[in-house]
Amino acid sequence: MFDDLHPIVSTHENFDSVLVPQDHVSRSKNDTYYVTEDTVLRCHTSAHQLSLLKQGEKKFLVTGDVYRRDTIDATHFPVFHQMEGVRVFTKCELSSTELAPQDFVSQELKSMLEGLAKHLFGEVELRWVDAYFPFTDPSYELEIFFNGEWLEVLGCGVMQKQILNGASLVDEEAWAFGLGLERLAMVLFDIPDIRLFWTNDERFSKQFKAGMFRSGGHNMQKFKSYSKYPPCYKDVSFWLPNVSKFTENDLCEIVRSTAGNLVEEVKLIDEFHNPKTNQVSNCYRITYRSMDRSLTDEEINTLQDCVREALVTSLGVTLR
Ligand code: PHE
Repeated sequence: MFDDLHPIVSTHENFDSVLVPQDHVSRSKNDTYYVTEDTVLRCHTSAHQLSLLKQGEKKFLVTGDVYRRDTIDATHFPVFHQMEGVRVFTKCELSSTELAPQDFVSQELKSMLEGLAKHLFGEVELRWVDAYFPFTDPSYELEIFFNGEWLEVLGCGVMQKQILNGASLVDEEAWAFGLGLERLAMVLFDIPDIRLFWTNDERFSKQFKAGMFRSGGHNMQKFKSYSKYPPCYKDVSFWLPNVSKFTENDLCEIVRSTAGNLVEEVKLIDEFHNPKTNQVSNCYRITYRSMDRSLTDEEINTLQDCVREALVTSLGVTLR
């Protein structure tokens, strides 16, 4: 079990070592935080798979903070935590079954994770969705029905042979999974907003104690939500620059760096194309809400003005 691996890793570890193609979106500066040209804040704990396998680890968990540039809503935050699990099967273990090795490993993986989900949640609706990860084949995502929608809680699959071979494991097979810990805790405790993990409000933190989970999750006390403060909605409309480099993640980063944790959601509510001028207009609705106090009109107006200004200076849009 590794929980102190450094979150700044090389692009080789974060991408190449797990076979992420050169043109994969996750390599872009729009999706990943680059520290230098060849180091990043890891965007997943899978960045450590290969080096741990090379060290001879055959069965391991890695937990740590991971970082992603992303859109803003109640379940996304630019830093969150993952737990990675990897289990290698020896030639001998694989020969004990009639199944093709990959099918066997796949089956083991799914039944282990279903067991985990049952243990954590008791009776909960879950479903497997076929997925794509460069480092596993086949790949799956496990989704849990929560708050009226399907929430992805983990990705997993049978590890690509090429990765194992790179660690001199030639006759072996392995599975791997990566679990989003905040997502899991949100479902377990009924926590409605991911920003709550980052408040200093004792009404939140006092409800949790180390070890309280040990007796099996589903009987546990749910989070007792204290009254929510009212949200404040602000719309901003703008024409995109002609040769547009605009991305929603850039907008979100501006909002996040201006409003910090006071922003709850950034959502595109209208988009249209003017065929005459060939220009595109976007309208975004920004929801501001504090987790622990009331916001004043004045404060929100100031934030919104800063966002509008940064949109013009940093992204070159034309406000409407
Ligand atoms: N690294 C993947 C993610 O961040 C999750 C994953 C881990 C998928 C291991 C497959 C195997 O989403």
